[in-house]
Amino acid sequence: LKDEKIQVTFRLHNGEQLKTEAKVGDTLLDVVVNQDLNIEGFGACEGTLTCSTCHVILKQQDFDRLPEEASDEERDMLDLAYGLTDTSRLGCQITLSKDLDGLEVQVPETINDARS
Ligand code: FES
Repeated sequence: LKDEKIQVTFRLHNGEQLKTEAKVGDTLLDVVVNQDLNIEGFGACEGTLTCSTCHVILKQQDFDRLPEEASDEERDMLDLAYGLTDTSRLGCQITLSKDLDGLEVQVPETINDARS
């Protein structure tokens, strides 16, 4: 099952859409790194929950179907993200499941590195 692929789209603030095939079991950050997606500044802390540069905004229905809710640590980090919304999550904390096929996430205009 680990080799199953799902369709994931990253929408950038300039309207560009990056459509990818992502592996089930990977995080959204893994997808960006492994596929070398050109999203400036994304994932600066490499998934160690210290930067918030992997902030993504989900559609409500996708947000609701994520298997796991944000942990307290993720929430704290999200509070430092620029342009936080009710359906914001951190990409390094979203693990892709088969159910998430067709997932579309918005990358916010400004990426804030909480470490700086
Ligand atoms: Fe830094 Fe997700 S990559 S918090």
